[in-house]
Amino acid sequence: MKTPVRKLQAGPSPEPVSVERLVIIGFMGAGKSTVGPMLAARLGWTFVDLDHETAEQAGAPVDEIIRRRGLEDFRRLESEVGREVLRRTRVVVAVGGGWPAEPGHMELLAGGTLSVWLLVSAGTALARIAGSVTPRPLLEVADPLATAESLLARRRKHYERGDIRIDTEHRTPDQVVGDILESLAPRGAHGKREETA
Ligand code: S3P
Repeated sequence: MKTPVRKLQAGPSPEPVSVERLVIIGFMGAGKSTVGPMLAARLGWTFVDLDHETAEQAGAPVDEIIRRRGLEDFRRLESEVGREVLRRTRVVVAVGGGWPAEPGHMELLAGGTLSVWLLVSAGTALARIAGSVTPRPLLEVADPLATAESLLARRRKHYERGDIRIDTEHRTPDQVVGDILESLAPRGAHGKREETA
């Protein structure tokens, strides 16, 4: 089944570009790995979690790579695997929270890729992470809130380059998926919603 997703246009412009992959960006705890598979299922696409792919290719979980080999090594691996994953089509890709802030990464999301920024506050992110089984070594520090706030502040300008932004604060994963699908409905050059065929 062909899924009619077309790239949103910022203003009056030629024909929208066909979207063949969605990339979910945002801070740790934004819900990328929860919402991603649900969105992929709704589109009939495949879900890819970049952390999982990186771990698989490295033969070790992400937290272990960061602790044993260092953050720099992890970033290099994540970047290599990311470039390969972003060549796939009909995929929803969740990238790790640090991926968009690395040089050249957001530039990879051109053409047929639509990026979705899931917004979350540092406080909500930490609350969600507290209930998660995935370790986040970057936040295992004396003052996680201050660290999360400062990381978020530094990364914001990169996240802001996402094509669409969806607030996840006080929203359930189901509601977030609904909000994303609504934003994906093609809009005409003047921002008027069109019916999909
Ligand atoms: C990181 C986010 C993590 C993971 C790693 C580093 C970051 O992914 O890639 O622990 O730098 O923000 P999630 O955003 O899926 O938690």
